Amino acid sequence: TPGLAVYDPGFVNTASCRSAVTFIDGEKGILEYRGYPIEQLAEHSTFLEVAYLLIHGELPTREQYAAWEHEITFHTFVHENVKGFMEGFRYDAHPMGILMASVGALSTFYPESRNISDPENRHMQIVRMIAKMPTLGAWAFRNAQGKPYVYPDNDLSYTENFLAMLFKMSERKFEADPRLVKALDVLFILHADHEQNCSTNAVRSVGSSQVDPYSAVAAGVAALYGPLHGGANESVLRMLRRIGTKDNIPAFIEGVKNGDEKLMGFGHRVYKNYDPRAKIIKKACDDVFEVTGVNPLLEIAQELEKIALEDEYFVSRKLYPNVDFYSGLIYEALQFPPEMFTVLFAIGRTPGWLAQWLELVQDKEQKIARPKQIYTGGRGLDFTPREQRW
Ligand code: SDX
Repeated sequence: TPGLAVYDPGFVNTASCRSAVTFIDGEKGILEYRGYPIEQLAEHSTFLEVAYLLIHGELPTREQYAAWEHEITFHTFVHENVKGFMEGFRYDAHPMGILMASVGALSTFYPESRNISDPENRHMQIVRMIAKMPTLGAWAFRNAQGKPYVYPDNDLSYTENFLAMLFKMSERKFEADPRLVKALDVLFILHADHEQNCSTNAVRSVGSSQVDPYSAVAAGVAALYGPLHGGANESVLRMLRRIGTKDNIPAFIEGVKNGDEKLMGFGHRVYKNYDPRAKIIKKACDDVFEVTGVNPLLEIAQELEKIALEDEYFVSRKLYPNVDFYSGLIYEALQFPPEMFTVLFAIGRTPGWLAQWLELVQDKEQKIARPKQIYTGGRGLDFTPREQRW
C-alpha cells in the first residue's frame, strides 16, 4: 500500500532489540527466561515464582518468594467501581474486549502510576497488575455467563483462586483437582514471556511514550486479541471442529496449499523448528485428560500434525506446531469456553509484558518508538480545483 510504513525493528526501538529477559533460538527450538530453560521451569517452578524471576531477573529465596506471594495475594481485589464498569458491557461482549478496556481503566484508579520514574511506584503497579489480571479475566467470563462475580479467596493459591472465581456455583464435572491446577499453572509459565512478539512490542512501543504501565499493557492485550497472535488458540479449536473427522484432513490440507485455509496453531515468525512450548503442552494434555477424559478433537489434532510434518508444503516452509496448537484442547477440557482462551494467554503473558516494560523504562538510552518509513507515495503535486473534480 503506497505510504505504508515498512516496519524495521532496528529503527523502532533499539532497546526492544536489546533485552536480557528472554532468549529464543528459533532454529534449535530453544526458549529460556532469564537464562533458565523453559523445560526446567515448567517442571520445577510455579507461575508466581517464574513471574518473580522475569521481573527481578533471578530466582527468589524463600523470604523473597514469601514476600512476593503475600504482596500479590493482598492485591487480588479490584475497586468496586471497576466492577460497575465491567457490568456495563453487553451480555455477549468478548472477554478480551472487556479485559483490554478494564486494564486500561485501572490507569484511572491509580493516577500515581503515571510517575514511572519512581522504583517503588513501578513495583506497586507491577504487583497490582499481576494480582488483578486473573480477577479481571474471571469477571469478564462471569459477565459473559450472566453469573454473579466471585470475589478472590486469598486462602487459595494464585491459580486455584482464578479457577474458583471462574467456576464457583457452576456445573463443573470436577473440583479443582491438583493435577488440573498444576496443568494450568504450567500453561501460564509457558505463556509468561516470548521476547519481542507482537503484543510485547505493542507494550514497549506504547510504553516508550512514558505512559503509565496499565495503558501500555492494555495495548498488549489489544495486540494479543488478534487471531494471528493470541487469538490463534481459539481459532485452532474452530478449525479442528470444522475438519470434523480424520477423513477430512487431506481435503483441508489441500485447502491450505491453495491458500483457502491456514493451519492455525502452526508456523511461527521465529521458530523454524518445533516450538518447545508445544512439546510440553502436548505432554500436559495426557495429565489433564486423565482427569477430564480425552478431548475428542485430540485425535484429529494428532493426525493433522502427523500429516503436516510429513508434507513438503509445511516441511519446506519450516512450519511446526506452535504454542497454540494443543493449548486450546486443554482449555476446552478444563471447560473454558473458546472466547476465554486468549484471556488465559493474557494472564500468563502479564509478567513478561511487565518485565519488558520495566526493562524499557529503566533503560536510560531508551527513546520514544518512531518506526522508520520508506515513503512510496506521490510528491510535489498541485492542488486540483474542485470545479475540475466535482
Ligand atoms: C503466537 O511472536 C511470537 O512469539 C508469538 C507467540 C508468543 O508467544 O507471543 O509465539 C504466540 O502468536 C504464536 C503464533 C500463533 N498464530 C497462529 O498459529 C496463526 C497461524 N500461523 C500463521 O499465521 C503464521 O505462521 C504466523 C503469523 C505465526 C507467522 O507468520 P509469518 O511470519 O508470515 O510466517 P512465515 O513468514 O514463516 O511464512 C512462510 C510461509 C508463507 O507462505 P509463502 O508466502 O512462502 O507461500 O509459510 C506460510 C506463509 O503463508 N504459512 C502458513 C502458515 N504459517 C505460515 N501456511 C499455512 N498455515 C500456516 N499456519
